[in-house]
Amino acid sequence: MVITVRDLADEAEWERQYAMVGNAFGGNRAAPDEPHRSAVRGCVDQRLSIVVCDDGEHIGGCASSLFDLSLPGGASVSASGLSGVGVRPDRRGRGAMRAMLVEHLKRSAELGAAASTLMATEPSLYGRFGYGLMSSVATHRINVDRAELAEPFTDAGRIEVFTSGDARQAAAADVYERMRSVNPGMTSRNESWWRVVLSDSDDWKGPAKPFVAVHYDEAGDPDGYALHVVEPGTGGLWRPRATVVAHEFVVANLDAEKALWQFLVDVPLVRELRWHMAPVEPRIRLLLANRRELDTEMVNDMLWVRPLDVAALLEARTYERDGDASFAVTDELFPDEAGPWKLTVVGGRGSVERVDSAEVSLTPSQLGMVVTGATSLRSLAAAGLVDASEVVDSLSDLLVSSETPQPISRF
Ligand SMILES: CC(C)(COP(=O)(O)OP(=O)(O)OC[C@H]1O[C@@H](n2cnc3c(N)ncnc32)[C@H](O)[C@@H]1OP(=O)(O)O)[C@@H](O)C(=O)NCCC(=O)NCCS
Repeated sequence: MVITVRDLADEAEWERQYAMVGNAFGGNRAAPDEPHRSAVRGCVDQRLSIVVCDDGEHIGGCASSLFDLSLPGGASVSASGLSGVGVRPDRRGRGAMRAMLVEHLKRSAELGAAASTLMATEPSLYGRFGYGLMSSVATHRINVDRAELAEPFTDAGRIEVFTSGDARQAAAADVYERMRSVNPGMTSRNESWWRVVLSDSDDWKGPAKPFVAVHYDEAGDPDGYALHVVEPGTGGLWRPRATVVAHEFVVANLDAEKALWQFLVDVPLVRELRWHMAPVEPRIRLLLANRRELDTEMVNDMLWVRPLDVAALLEARTYERDGDASFAVTDELFPDEAGPWKLTVVGGRGSVERVDSAEVSLTPSQLGMVVTGATSLRSLAAAGLVDASEVVDSLSDLLVSSETPQPISRF
């Protein structure tokens, strides 16, 4: 048993790996059609498509994208997005995943990524590789008959609904792109990503047909969209009891948010709205006549971050207070990143330099959790995960951010 990793050889091997990884996840979904598969292929960076072999036999692999990850203050850094990690069920427990994860991280760093990111199906896997949970998202369940806004709202703009293939869906991409500089945790999307997100394929959102409701402001500019499907209920034609499922709800201002909310809860024949990828504490809850009608069904860990370039991450984001603090990073995989650093913030901009020593020591996983301020270092200390001290408090205060990361993209 010798585990090795290598590049994907050709298109045929890509197809084989796509099927193999699907089977590793249980093989419950039919293979998507060719246009969808080729769009997925366009999202993946060839250099980060890794094959893992056991004695030369292909037994699994992973695929990753390269995109820009938004940070507090509007800047972004290059990051890889790991996905499709799978090993044949009969070849598990031999170190195949470890080999490909290490290769993925090394290649990501060589390509200039400041971090590797992922969404985990199996969250307990990734701390050992230095990933820390940066942000969570919620699924909310809403009884549409009782979800009215406390104050009546009259929209000065308008909403138009587009289906797959309508070029006007591109308005959603405009809104998304604008919001990237405001919402940390968002990731850039190329054309292939948009083809995947807006496609009719079952692979992405189940069998229901996707609609994009775009909100235009009074001046006619798009300022929000809701990507949603209408799932049939059990009551047949006479009592449909359908559910509208919002997969993406992206708004640039409060009016667009109210208008799109009103639109979704008023979709004809619908009894319930389910809102995926939502903020854990959405602003709209504050505006409801009865806040209890927005019922949180689950909170899921969403974006995991593995720092690869400590200085790039800390110097790209902005800060809400000035000061300085030192910390050390323990990183066996990237010795150049390990050791003591000092973060100095002046006028909201950070600079990072090497120092001789530091009292606080963080694993890459802990740094991934706190680097955007989404989790406070104080809370890690309160949980006994790092030693509490004044230095921890001052580093925690420096990193804190009122901009809560809100990832939108699934990858
Ligand atoms: C998860 C999966 C990729 C692991 O592959 P593998 O080749 O058996 O993993 P390895 O032998 O390299 O193990 C790597 C490490 O993860 C641990 N590990 C493996 N499977 C695990 C699991 N399901 N839960 C928690 N830890 C696990 C191992 O103990 C090992 O730890 P160590 O290196 O610190 O000792 C494989 O089981 C699989 O394909 N599962 C189905 C698809 C899936 O869940 N993919 C990941 C989704 S995010």
